[in-house]
Amino acid sequence: MAGNLYGRDGATIGNLQKLRFFPLAVAGGRGPRLVEEDGRELIDLSGAWGAASLGYGHPAIVEAVSRAVANPAGASILSASNAPAVALAERLLATFPGRGAHKVWFGHSGSDANEATYRAITRATGRTGVIAFIGAYHGCTVGSMAFSGHSVHADAAKVDGLILLPYPDPYRPYQGDPTGDAVLALLKERLAAVPAGSIAAAFIEPIQSDGGLIVPPDGFLQKFADICRAHSILVVCDEVKVGLARSGRLHCFEHEGFVPDILVLGKGLGGGLPLSAVIAPAEILDCASAFAMQTLHGNPVCAAAGLAVLETIEAEDLAAAAEHKGKLLREGLARLAERHALIGDIRGRGLACGVELVRNRQSREPARAETAKLIYRAYELGLVLYYVGMNGNVLEMTPPLTMTEGEISQAVNLLDQAFTELSTISDAVISQFAGW
Ligand SMILES: Cc1ncc(COP(=O)(O)O)c(C=O)c1O
Repeated sequence: MAGNLYGRDGATIGNLQKLRFFPLAVAGGRGPRLVEEDGRELIDLSGAWGAASLGYGHPAIVEAVSRAVANPAGASILSASNAPAVALAERLLATFPGRGAHKVWFGHSGSDANEATYRAITRATGRTGVIAFIGAYHGCTVGSMAFSGHSVHADAAKVDGLILLPYPDPYRPYQGDPTGDAVLALLKERLAAVPAGSIAAAFIEPIQSDGGLIVPPDGFLQKFADICRAHSILVVCDEVKVGLARSGRLHCFEHEGFVPDILVLGKGLGGGLPLSAVIAPAEILDCASAFAMQTLHGNPVCAAAGLAVLETIEAEDLAAAAEHKGKLLREGLARLAERHALIGDIRGRGLACGVELVRNRQSREPARAETAKLIYRAYELGLVLYYVGMNGNVLEMTPPLTMTEGEISQAVNLLDQAFTELSTISDAVISQFAGW
């Protein structure tokens, strides 16, 4: 292995930024497929954790990026305006139904966007407390980890006044209440126990992604936002993974007829290039200058990619396509559930889909090791997908929105085979990969 790509990677790149599940080493990409060094092609049902929104090498991105890089409008938004960044800001604002004046902030990642959002809110309001959810992954910078509730960040320093609530999970309901009302009652209790005016913001994922691809019960987001607003707490919707057409709507919050105060976008916005954006009230994003910036923020090449992504989503109606294809995917998975007892729950919206694996459908005991073995076998068979969840037992599927119906059915067939052949993978094989 030492001489091949994966071996060279092991010898040269530190583990700090690795979250590996099998020895995938990528030399290229075409559409929804990754290509390994030896030419083997794999269907990418993860879509690079949702970042490859249009797949790999989409002509619209190739054309936009090639043009932007050949005649770059500088490199940043910090000390000069640039045409692609301004055009992208205009386009993003046109998609946001919030009332009043809004502006945009550009970053490189979901992490820097959530951190900048928190810092700007605290600066603008003078409040520091935050409401967030157990299982929430808002990023991997000091600032974004400080209000993340995912176990991977359990050791990170947290903001003063952090209120962490259980996420309303219909499959594993808090206090046995699948409506989410028990979570809302807890929120009211916790708010009554802190000084009035101390909480600045509530960060919520409209589908909790890394916590287990959990879809909240109908009406929960609206009721949650109503309680927050009664306390003048700004509601921040973190749609870094499930935004921009993936859920079957352009914005995932649209499923609920609720509009957040602030929207955070990332991953799929850049279509594989580093790009994130925050849409927020102008008074928040104008509260200071030279306050939340990095040299290459607002990079025109990344902004050009973002514009190409938004234009393609609109031109090809990828939100409707995601809704339709997501339904097909879940129907295929439901057929697998008839044959594979490990499948405990299938959930999602559009092409954000989760499958929870359990050892026993009654007790719902998480099937952690089996999940790791399943995705390893899937990789051997030519399918890339990873797992998420606080119990490490939820298959996450966030494929390119451009994946065809035929490729979805091929992916389901490969999964079927992986379930059948799961016992070919030993504990020793999966123990080489730390996962999370
Ligand atoms: C909902 C959500 N927010 C924020 C992030 C952090 O994004 P990034 O890894 O681009 O910093 C992630 C990453 O998985 C995410 O799923």
